[in-house]
Amino acid sequence: MSKPKVTPDFAAQNGLDPANMPRHIAIIMDGNGRWAKSRGLPRVAGHKLGVDSVRAATKTCGKLGVEVLTLYAFSTENWLRPKDEVSELMRLLSWTLKREVSELDKNNVRLRASGRLDGLPKPVQDELSRGIEKLKGNTGLILNLALNYGSRQEIVDAVNALIREGAKEVDEAAIARRLYTAEFPDPDLVIRTSGEMRLSNFLLWQAAYAELYITPVLWPDFREQQLVDAVLDYQKRHRRFGGI
Ligand code: IPE
Ligand code: IPE
Ligand code: MG
Repeated sequence: MSKPKVTPDFAAQNGLDPANMPRHIAIIMDGNGRWAKSRGLPRVAGHKLGVDSVRAATKTCGKLGVEVLTLYAFSTENWLRPKDEVSELMRLLSWTLKREVSELDKNNVRLRASGRLDGLPKPVQDELSRGIEKLKGNTGLILNLALNYGSRQEIVDAVNALIREGAKEVDEAAIARRLYTAEFPDPDLVIRTSGEMRLSNFLLWQAAYAELYITPVLWPDFREQQLVDAVLDYQKRHRRFGGI
């Protein structure tokens, strides 16, 4: 994987050390519904504004020289929501993918998706494949969308793939190689907005040694400054990985 370039000015202006950037940031984008509810708006209004925060996170990660940004956009459990909300979310996803691809291209971004993608509506699958194909020659940030994603299912899928390949025994490396995220380094920093102190079935394997950052800010209000603050906090951590 080629290393994207940090925009040194941007990092320095924000008091960040370009030599200590997280390679992979993963975000649980939470709080769209509460953002809308507090304004007396329908939940989907929060999801719509959340798209602006996705754009901001992508741009900021590009400027910081982050290699991979994984965004939890729809979990395997989110199908439990009312049918209308699910279909609005799926529609928003395919529209957004269609509309944003040229902007992503200008910013040298590549696109990936993690999850049981064959369980997504056809228009979402189509826009995803189109976007991945169109952006595949870029060399900057990898934007990885976790869609119909569930970490336990991912591990089950990985083990089943190994069984099909004839494995009698598995080890950590074999499992990691079959996860949806096999091509990426493990996340260094996992951010959750809206204050919930849980992982909600997100990257349970990969986040074994990730630094966690939980902010009360709701996703539609989480923009460049909030992301910079999270990375500033990350840079103050002492990662020991079990050592001393
Ligand atoms: C996150 O916001 C978006 C998705 C899970 C798709 P929520 O919709 O979960 O917002 P809250 O948690 O109800 O506020
Ligand atoms: C996690 O948020 C899933 C996504 C952000 C896509 P949820 O809102 O679904 O999580 P819970 O239900 O509060 O755990
Ligand atoms: Mg939520």
